[in-house]
Amino acid sequence: MIRLRDVRKSYRQGAGEVLACAVHHLEVQQGEQVALVGRSGSGKTTLLHILAGILRPDAGEVEVVGQRLDRLGEAARDRHRGRHVGLVYQTFNLLQPFTALENVLLGALFGRGAGGDAKHRAEALLAQVGLGDRLHHRPSELSVGQVQRVAICRALVNDPELILMDEPLGNQDRATGGQVLDLLLRLAHDGGKTVVMVTHDPASAARMQRTVDLATLRGPGGAP
Ligand SMILES: Nc1ncnc2c1ncn2[C@@H]1O[C@H](COP(=O)(O)OP(=O)(O)OP(=O)(O)O)[C@@H](O)[C@H]1O
Ligand SMILES: [Mg+2]
Repeated sequence: MIRLRDVRKSYRQGAGEVLACAVHHLEVQQGEQVALVGRSGSGKTTLLHILAGILRPDAGEVEVVGQRLDRLGEAARDRHRGRHVGLVYQTFNLLQPFTALENVLLGALFGRGAGGDAKHRAEALLAQVGLGDRLHHRPSELSVGQVQRVAICRALVNDPELILMDEPLGNQDRATGGQVLDLLLRLAHDGGKTVVMVTHDPASAARMQRTVDLATLRGPGGAP
């Protein structure tokens, strides 16, 4: 499902460069649920964006759902993401003028989920994360934890094979976070989904099948 080899991504910063992410080798099998951990600034978000095809690495091989993303241009990577990947951004990235339901439906528009039942699916997902009575609220009319749950629904609405989540439960109380994680893991288990979830919470990480520490992926000579 995921195979990375000698991946590096740097940012130009003034006269110098910042190495944001380095992965010598990483494989994730289909149906695996992986917690991605590492200190702040170690490159977790950068890695998720490379896996989603938002960022292209400077070097290395990135295979995701059977495609070599490092060989594709931006438009092809965007199409690939729309068909196969659901991403929950660390900063949510909901569109402010639109309601919760519309934001989830926009996820369907850019993927394969646009169709007659997209609205039902979006409503059902929102209800499952406890937002059945907030369908027509705009992001500014929702709490931060509610916005985060809308972002999770948007990532799931296309029924993607690969679910990438950047601290998706960071703003949830323990009970709500537990319910959302139950839902995610049930969907993943029943649908054979692959999940990579960034988390700083050991209890959430413990519920995944495997924990990967970014610091251990760099390999020889690759310390950022
Ligand atoms: N656009 C950018 N330009 C320059 N440097 C960047 C840019 N984006 C990220 N970085 C640097 O790359 C490194 C990795 O950033 P990244 O956001 O992937 O970290 P992270 O592990 O997700 O951290 P956190 O746990 O705080 O979310 C950081 O040191 C950051 O300062
Ligand atoms: Mg991050």
